[in-house]
Amino acid sequence: MPEEDYWGSFFNAECVINKMFGEKSSEGGVIEFGSGYGTFTIPVAKHSTSTILALDIEPDLVELLRQKAEEQSIKNIHAEVRDFVADGTGLESGTQAHAMIFNLLHLEHPIKLLKEAHRVLRKGGRLSVIHWRSDISVPRGPSLEIRPTPQQCKELIEKAGFHTVEDVDLLECCKFHFGIVALR
Ligand SMILES: C[S@@+](CC[C@H](N)C(=O)[O-])C[C@H]1O[C@@H](n2cnc3c(N)ncnc32)[C@H](O)[C@@H]1O
Repeated sequence: MPEEDYWGSFFNAECVINKMFGEKSSEGGVIEFGSGYGTFTIPVAKHSTSTILALDIEPDLVELLRQKAEEQSIKNIHAEVRDFVADGTGLESGTQAHAMIFNLLHLEHPIKLLKEAHRVLRKGGRLSVIHWRSDISVPRGPSLEIRPTPQQCKELIEKAGFHTVEDVDLLECCKFHFGIVALR
C-alpha cells in the first residue's frame, strides 16, 4: 500500500461509511476483509456500537490498527492477523450484520472471498464493496488489467449468492471510487 497519509487523502472515510452503512447502523457484528491502515475501521467503530473484526494478512498493519484503537480508547475493534483467502474468517455462519470489502476485489480469487462474506453474513445482512474506478484516470489503484469494473463486481457479487445489488454514489466522498451494496 502507499504511504498512509497519501492513502488517506483519497477518501473522506466518514462520508464513505455513512453512505455504505446508512445513517443508522444496524446492530450486529461487522467483518472487514483487509483492514490495511484502518482507514475505514476507525470510522466504522465510531459510527456503531457493534464489534468490528478487522482482518489483515500483514502483522504490522494489524499492530498499527490495534495501537490506533487503544490511543483513541476505541473498544469495539478486534484486529487479527489472518489470511482470509487461505483460511477463511474463522467466523460462524450467519452471524454478521455487515461485511466490508474495500479496495480488494482485484485479488486472485474474488469469488472465494465473496462466498466467505456471504457465508458469515446473517440473512438480510449487508455487503459493501468499494474500489478504484477504471473509467477515469486515477492516481493509484491496481493495474487496469486486474482492476474490476462495477459491472464485473456486481456479477461476482450475484454469483456469490447476494441479491439487491445496488450502486452507491460516492462522488462527494471519494471521486476516484465506486461503491456497491448488496444483501445476503
Ligand atoms: C489495498 S489494501 C486496502 C485496505 C483497506 N481495505 C482500505 O481500503 O483502506 C488491501 C489490504 O488487504 C490485505 N490483504 C490482501 N490479501 C489478503 C489476504 N489474503 N488475507 C488478509 N488480508 C489480505 C492487504 O494486506 C492490505 O492491507
